[in-house]
Amino acid sequence: MVNRFFSHTELKTDKGNTRLDQDNIPSHIAIIMDGNGRWAKNKGLPRVAGHYEGMKVVTNVVKKANEIGIKFLTLYAFSTENWKRPEKEVEFLMKLPERFLEKELPDLQKNNVKVRTMGDRSLLPANTLRAIEKAVKETSDNTGLVLNFALNYGGRHELVEMVKEIGEDIAEGDLRPGDITENLISERLLTQGLPDPDLLIRTSGEIRLSNFMLWQIAYSEFWFTEVLWPDFKDENFIEAIKKYQQRKRRYGGV
Ligand code: FPP
Repeated sequence: MVNRFFSHTELKTDKGNTRLDQDNIPSHIAIIMDGNGRWAKNKGLPRVAGHYEGMKVVTNVVKKANEIGIKFLTLYAFSTENWKRPEKEVEFLMKLPERFLEKELPDLQKNNVKVRTMGDRSLLPANTLRAIEKAVKETSDNTGLVLNFALNYGGRHELVEMVKEIGEDIAEGDLRPGDITENLISERLLTQGLPDPDLLIRTSGEIRLSNFMLWQIAYSEFWFTEVLWPDFKDENFIEAIKKYQQRKRRYGGV
């Protein structure tokens, strides 16, 4: 179904959307937004210029996802490994959520978007933390697209924390090993309450997962593109969803 915040006329005028099978829209799309540095280098600009341009693409993709009727959108904004980058670049990347939310929060609110994040918040700078906490709080009653930023996120870290928590519960006698099920594990991950991604997109031609949602993407469809994230346009997004719609998901069956 189309999103109630965009009129039918608006959708009809968008050629891209009309090509989509409205009965098979992926519920959850996760994106590894890669290629900002190369985009900047190709233009003779500093790497951070690529990240800034990448932030503008986030605005556009969120709008488009909402318009298409995607229910959950997870964006890999900063990994637990990204701290290894030069200090200035890390600083810039850490400022992006704040810059983005400062500008976009009113529109996100207007479009009924619910912001959440996943990742270790303890290392985030105070301003970043304040900005995301404000956005999460102010959009908590919204019922539209869930926009989930993976921020200081790492799949292995997430799994280690989950195992520790289960271990503690067993040690305290609150849980027995026999009680551990796939559902119990899913409920103890940072994506608690979100369905697993139906579609994983990675830009920039890299064919790897880079520690992203290792448990959750067990049955996701993958779509890779050479397009660098700052160049990622509506038509690329539509193409990814179209390709998804052509796949036959078998979940190990026939
Ligand atoms: C990878 O490209 C990208 C990142 C590590 C950061 C992604 C962040 C954004 C796209 C903006 C986030 C926006 C918000 C609102 C939080 P890279 O730098 O590794 O590129 P390269 O592989 O070409 O060097």
